[in-house]
Amino acid sequence: MIVTVTLNPSMDSIYFTDTFTLGEMNRCSNPIKAVGGKGINAGRTAAILGGNVTAMGVLAGLNGESIRTALEQEPFQTIFLPIAGESRNAVTVMDRKKNQTEIVELGPEITAETAKKIIDQVIDFSLEQKKRPIIALCGSANTKNERLYHDYLQQLNEQLGSNIKVLTDISGKQLHNALKSPIKPYFIKPNIHEFAELLNVSITTKNEIVKQLSHPILQGIPFILVSCGGDGAIAKYQEQIFDITLPMIDVINPTGSGDATVGGVAFALDQDFSIEETLRYAMACGMSNALEQAVGYVSIENVALLKNNIIIREISEMFHV
Ligand SMILES: Nc1ncnc2c1ncn2[C@@H]1O[C@H](COP(=O)(O)OP(=O)(O)OP(=O)(O)O)[C@@H](O)[C@H]1O
Ligand SMILES: [Mg+2]
Repeated sequence: MIVTVTLNPSMDSIYFTDTFTLGEMNRCSNPIKAVGGKGINAGRTAAILGGNVTAMGVLAGLNGESIRTALEQEPFQTIFLPIAGESRNAVTVMDRKKNQTEIVELGPEITAETAKKIIDQVIDFSLEQKKRPIIALCGSANTKNERLYHDYLQQLNEQLGSNIKVLTDISGKQLHNALKSPIKPYFIKPNIHEFAELLNVSITTKNEIVKQLSHPILQGIPFILVSCGGDGAIAKYQEQIFDITLPMIDVINPTGSGDATVGGVAFALDQDFSIEETLRYAMACGMSNALEQAVGYVSIENVALLKNNIIIREISEMFHV
């Protein structure tokens, strides 16, 4: 069982225009609409692979209703708490020259009361399951509490036990504060930019990622995956470090590849796969998403094919100390 939590789902619209000019009337055809949200995307990926997934989170207002209706078509169960406000719109305008302009709303506020209701719901649901679920906390939240995910890690640990595997795909202050917690997430998946921001250093190469893996703020996290887009990833699992490289693919839309990667990891951990197989799933899901127009979507056939063409090389101790 996999539980994903999305505190800021969105109704995403992509407008394709010939030109997009600031300060002028820009006409366009009807947008492509889809539900967005990192936990929802990760959950979709894990469910497509065959995982038993429940997506949880919040929905608000009329947009929330539209999202709820759209979620009925998804391959997972849903438990979304209705809250005050309006679920957000995220608008992308793509012109003929592939310039991408985005307008992303803040979304409804996650008050202290809402935050408590959600985590209580996740805990109650998890306690009802025969086996402890893998819990993935994904994406931003519009909250004044910069330690929201830090607090969630503590609460999940207290109520579900220290063996609970909590995966986080978060960034900025929330990630920083979560890692300052004595209770660590089991898994984090910063991309290379988020990783550099977390450590407050400039990082452009995989070698630099490897060197930073001994940074104090990363201690005690069993599984770290720093994703590098088409360049693959660097992973640290317990004391092992891996360099993962990918075959070339004809990318269609890499947006949401990180979310698909998290979905692949959640699925593989839930199946108790080996670390090597888990990394194969993670990368194959990211790549499969990049081969689709849709965001946060994978094809099971592509994942099966890609998985075998990923190169995983363990970096020896000699190199990284
Ligand atoms: N251009 C690409 N070619 C091949 N694989 C890709 C490409 N972009 C992403 N991937 C796959 O997806 C994984 C995650 O991608 P990336 O590092 O871009 O995550 P991200 O920045 O968190 O993405 P997002 O936040 O948009 O979901 C990569 O490790 C890789 O496996
Ligand atoms: Mg990401």
